[in-house]
Amino acid sequence: MKDKVALITGASSGIGKSTAEAFAAKGANVVVAARRKEELDSLVASIVANGGKASAIQTDVSNSKSVEEMVAHTIKTFGRLDYCVNSAGIEGVFGSVIDLPEEDWDKVMNINLKGTFLCMKYQAKAMIKAGKGGSIVNIGSVNSFLGFPTGSAYVTSKHGLIGLTSSASAELGPLGIRVNLLCPGITVTPMHDRLRDIVGDDMYDKGIIPTVHLQRAGKPEEMAKAILFLCSEDSSYISGSTLTVDGGLTLTM
Ligand SMILES: NC(=O)c1ccc[n+]([C@@H]2O[C@H](COP(=O)([O-])OP(=O)(O)OC[C@H]3O[C@@H](n4cnc5c(N)ncnc54)[C@H](OP(=O)(O)O)[C@@H]3O)[C@@H](O)[C@H]2O)c1
Repeated sequence: MKDKVALITGASSGIGKSTAEAFAAKGANVVVAARRKEELDSLVASIVANGGKASAIQTDVSNSKSVEEMVAHTIKTFGRLDYCVNSAGIEGVFGSVIDLPEEDWDKVMNINLKGTFLCMKYQAKAMIKAGKGGSIVNIGSVNSFLGFPTGSAYVTSKHGLIGLTSSASAELGPLGIRVNLLCPGITVTPMHDRLRDIVGDDMYDKGIIPTVHLQRAGKPEEMAKAILFLCSEDSSYISGSTLTVDGGLTLTM
């Protein structure tokens, strides 16, 4: 991936951050995007200290202008765009369908679903203009397939990403741009820690982890490896697809 350029949203934390580090370790120039600039700046400093090249851009993926600027910054800084990973996402507020406030539903949809749409819109435009193809990986979830009580907003946003990814693949495939959906299972990140606090340690250890075939949560580095595979030439015939990396959780539920 030397001299190729990767743009990663949600890079201030968790899966996005590990993915940015993994791309940099493979020699790619990396643009990291999220709302929290300090976290991005410290990630850039650590990539550069390890001999890589990286640049940060403060971005709100739910805002069209901000996303357009993110892509423009990438092209201005590194001159091309080869790989995009759309990892920005929130778990939002959990609540029953009869109680969940409309604004909480909208917030989750605006970041997880519309945000991914906006990112692909500008990312794909830049890739098409360059005419060199590319690979886009959106981040779904095991909840792209499975619902749970109080999860309607998050689950719907993640189900929607299957349709968005598949439609984008159908449009962009003929132009040499592959689009796939990586669906993580339980992965130890700040989002995971917030959810673990909600369910409680006892339920997490005795009720949830035993449902994973591998009997453990995944690491963000394990998601990053699968994401890099979906961007690499090793997956040259994979597009419009979902790749579930969940230690066996989905088939248990
Ligand atoms: N961890 C899991 O168990 C798990 C399982 C399945 C799927 N996922 C999915 O994996 C992705 C990454 O999650 P994670 O576990 O790494 O969570 P995380 O540690 O909370 O990271 C989420 C990232 O999204 C960014 N973000 C949120 N809203 C944003 C916005 N409006 N604009 C730009 N960036 C925004 C956050 O940065 P700022 O706050 O700085 O903006 C942060 O960098 C999410 O899509 C999540 O749904 C996670």
